[in-house]
Amino acid sequence: MIIIVDFGSQTTHLIARRLKELGAKIEIIHPENILKEINKAKVKGIILSGGPASVYEKNAQTVDIKIFNLGIPILGICYGLQLAAHLLGGKVVSGKKEYGPTQLKIKNCKLKIAKDLPKSFVVWMSHGDEVVKLPKGFKVIGSSDGVPFAFVQNKHEKIFGLQFHPEVEHTEFGNKILKNFVEICGIKTFKKDFDVLKTKQGIRKIVGEEDYVIGAVSGGVDSTVAAALAAKAIGKRFIPIYVDNGLMREGTREHVQEIFKQIGIKPIVINVIGEMLKKLKKITDSEKKRKIIGNFYIEIFEREMKKLLAKKLSVKYLLQGTIYSDVIESQGTKYSAKIKSHHNVGGLPKKMKLKLLEPMRNFYKDEVREIGRRLGLPEEFINKQPFPGPGYAVRIRGEVTRKRLEMEKKADKIVLLELKKANILSCVFLSFPVMTGAYSTAVKGDGRQFGEVVAIRVVESKDIMTSTWARLPYEILQKISSRIVNEVPGVSRVVYDITTKPPATMEWE
Ligand code: XMP
Repeated sequence: MIIIVDFGSQTTHLIARRLKELGAKIEIIHPENILKEINKAKVKGIILSGGPASVYEKNAQTVDIKIFNLGIPILGICYGLQLAAHLLGGKVVSGKKEYGPTQLKIKNCKLKIAKDLPKSFVVWMSHGDEVVKLPKGFKVIGSSDGVPFAFVQNKHEKIFGLQFHPEVEHTEFGNKILKNFVEICGIKTFKKDFDVLKTKQGIRKIVGEEDYVIGAVSGGVDSTVAAALAAKAIGKRFIPIYVDNGLMREGTREHVQEIFKQIGIKPIVINVIGEMLKKLKKITDSEKKRKIIGNFYIEIFEREMKKLLAKKLSVKYLLQGTIYSDVIESQGTKYSAKIKSHHNVGGLPKKMKLKLLEPMRNFYKDEVREIGRRLGLPEEFINKQPFPGPGYAVRIRGEVTRKRLEMEKKADKIVLLELKKANILSCVFLSFPVMTGAYSTAVKGDGRQFGEVVAIRVVESKDIMTSTWARLPYEILQKISSRIVNEVPGVSRVVYDITTKPPATMEWE
């Protein structure tokens, strides 16, 4: 197997996914356990992951230097490369910070690790530190304009380092580099698929033969796929609940009813629109909003649980459509940083009566879509845009008032419609306006108006871990801008967000 030493990278689990797809057996371990793990298992390769720390910090995570003398191939990615360089006599400094795409130029395509790579391709960086001196015996395989030591190896072809991230979807030929590494480890690669049946059986095993599960369904792909699996696993013992809190897109309630008709179960629909807005009154902090919404959802589900228990149904579990990107951003591993508390992970109350059941927790968006496809859900639904659980609340910076919610909804409708008319909607991953909370001057009909600035965000992605902004034609942008400033009262200006992820997350909050 190959072990991945996790220094807290947002993409450690994604590295594991890529290697598993190549047929390798993977275990993710903590750095302090490395020698013990190597002794325990038949380790054919080691990957040192990225991480949020700096190797020269006092308490930065490290590994026993002995691992570099074992003759086992080692690949350091980002922090992993910096750590290897630091431990082996090179130098790492707080360098030029780089987040997002850059061009990598390969100097030597004949090396095993660089097999089948073109001379130049796009890679994605996400680092604040940089190796400025390589350890003795190391040489450069590839450089970018900003980073001379972006792709390196030692002379024995056993230790390799990448400053960029080969595991992310937007790095071209990243999979090829990982494949080359797996082959250097002496592992035969093949294309491995995941097993939907195993996930379904897993639900049945956890729930058993008598207990009931209530499902938090939002009409989105993740919770619907999780629900469809649960319905297949335990039939009528699965009870979906849709909470209409007024923060979802227009028509979501009807859409949920329609899709569950196809799955063969009628969902319970609960209206809490007034209550939700009351709870969000005067709340401006996005973390607080997420926690209030997460807590409120659980309160409602526990209310429903009580009603069902009174009917003598033994309800023990709450099914959520949590996926891995929600988990890692809400601080999913020992050394990772918290990016935001997704309402369904970090935003949950500490004590809950219901036990969580999250069959999608280890999957990425594109995998969830594939599972949905295999379960027979309609293609149009599978490709639906994701919509955050806290809905418009995290697309309105600052307080969610009725007036701003109306503005956001109107602007959202315009963006969706214009993208649809231009046949662009189905090609993008996510599109939405943001009520930015910034204000600017406009001249409307010869009068001055000081109104809110709306930002439009349209991104392309597959697995959510990285994304690029959509290169929309100017005419479409013009149309969206004109319509919003003309048709949405209180808006003075429209701007287009041209930031990749990383560094910017998709949502603004
Ligand atoms: P970010 O902004 O984190 O978005 O790059 C990644 C994906 O997650 C969605 N998102 C959420 N989904 N609860 C959710 O269920 C949340 O609190 C939340 N915040 C972001 C976002 O819409 C995108 O699809």
